[in-house]
Amino acid sequence: MIEWINFIYLLSAVLFMLGLKKLSSPATARAGNNLSMLGMALAIGATLLSPEITTYRMILVGVGIGAVIGGVSAVRVQMTAMPEMVALFNGCGGAASALVALAEFQAAGNAFTPFSMVTLLLSVIVGALTFTGSVIAFAKLQGLVPSRPVCYPGQQLINALILVATAALGVAVYRDPANTMGFFYLIIAISLVLGVLAVIPIGGADMPVIISLLNSYSGVAVAMTGFALQNNCLIVVGSLVGASGIILTKIMCDAMNRSLANVLFGAFGAGDAAVSGEGAEGGGPQGTVKGYELEDVATVLENSASLIIVPGYGMAAAQAQHAVRELGDILGERGVEVRYAIHPVAGRMPGHMNVLLAEADVSYDVLYAMEDINDEFSETDVVLVIGANDVVNPAAKTNPASPIYGMPVLNVDEARTVVVLKRSMNPGFAGIENELFLKENTMMLFGDAKKSVQGLVATLKG
Ligand code: TAP
Repeated sequence: MIEWINFIYLLSAVLFMLGLKKLSSPATARAGNNLSMLGMALAIGATLLSPEITTYRMILVGVGIGAVIGGVSAVRVQMTAMPEMVALFNGCGGAASALVALAEFQAAGNAFTPFSMVTLLLSVIVGALTFTGSVIAFAKLQGLVPSRPVCYPGQQLINALILVATAALGVAVYRDPANTMGFFYLIIAISLVLGVLAVIPIGGADMPVIISLLNSYSGVAVAMTGFALQNNCLIVVGSLVGASGIILTKIMCDAMNRSLANVLFGAFGAGDAAVSGEGAEGGGPQGTVKGYELEDVATVLENSASLIIVPGYGMAAAQAQHAVRELGDILGERGVEVRYAIHPVAGRMPGHMNVLLAEADVSYDVLYAMEDINDEFSETDVVLVIGANDVVNPAAKTNPASPIYGMPVLNVDEARTVVVLKRSMNPGFAGIENELFLKENTMMLFGDAKKSVQGLVATLKG
């Protein structure tokens, strides 16, 4: 039986890897999800065949409760609240690993190899801090606790000392597991506190990066539990989650031109760093804002031969994606070449724009990643910026004093005409002004993105 279980685990591991591969493109992402779900069903089924299981009653109760909570929340969650949901799921993964490790510690008494003891300890520490860290990330995004960074003197030193104390307790448990149960519980308690302390100094806007990092941690906790239980499936799945989470974290940091250390310890959004740095010597950007009416913009759009639509966080906030697709369709029917340019960190979570545009049935063929379209802006008649700000800010290329200097941005300023849809002159996530809005070739259309796009559609139709 054990051979069969391991064989099915191997099959599910292959399905997880194929699923992950397919998730890397919007065109194959659904198939990737299905493959991963099949892999997970096989893994759960194989685990239920384990001869160690003596009764299914508690398992069925757990599966029932989990299925109802997971199913209902997945159906009801808004796309814009997806980071919060992922945070909660990560937290559950961490808590599950810590609880399984705790149960194993209680059951095994003194019968540990040094390796399983170390992995068990790592599982509870990483699992417990992932749980509370994820809960704080969730609470910050939901506005249940202040989303600004909470900082105090000696913060990093205190966190480091707590970590050292946890390691010291771990060594004591490792040496004499049978007589240090109290220490084991203390390690769990301290790790829970550490999760809170590690996440409170990070601003709400950086939470997507932290959630991705915590996702990686939850994978590490699962893999450690797998080593402790000698369960191949947990080892493989935990490693996949750990590795993909850290790769995604790096992609996000690179796209924002920030180091992980800066995200973790830089307290971005605390006030100074985010809003200073505007052209240090020469003051803010120079120029005049030119507001236009719907009719002016509609005329420019229908008289263009080529259009690139650049969506950003404002399109998500306004839920304008369906109206945007309709606008693109109308212009396409009138002979305008319509393409979409997607910046890797546009919005507030990885793939945010892709998911919204897919939901609105925008064809994948017209979606272009930044590196594939950035050279095309100079050859384009009109760029329509819908609720994007930082990802189109030329200061990232031209102003070394800007906090986003060096961040790769879309070259929208090179197009013949730029139309920007936003509600006001307020800055975006980075809290800085955008000289694009003052440029000679920029037309501002102020208002909620959905209303503006619907207005353009109506004007073009009428
Ligand atoms: P932002 O720079 O945040 O700008 C969004 C703009 O949308 C704002 O200037 C806002 O201006 C406008 N807006 C908001 N609601 C609107 C509405 N209802 N209708 C019309 N406009 C609206 O967005 P971006 O260009 O997408 O850049 C993303 C930023 O988030 C980057 O700085 C990135 O580093 C950061 N970030 C991204 C991620 C991921 S993974 N995507 C993770 C963490 C951080 P008004 O208020 O004037 O309307």
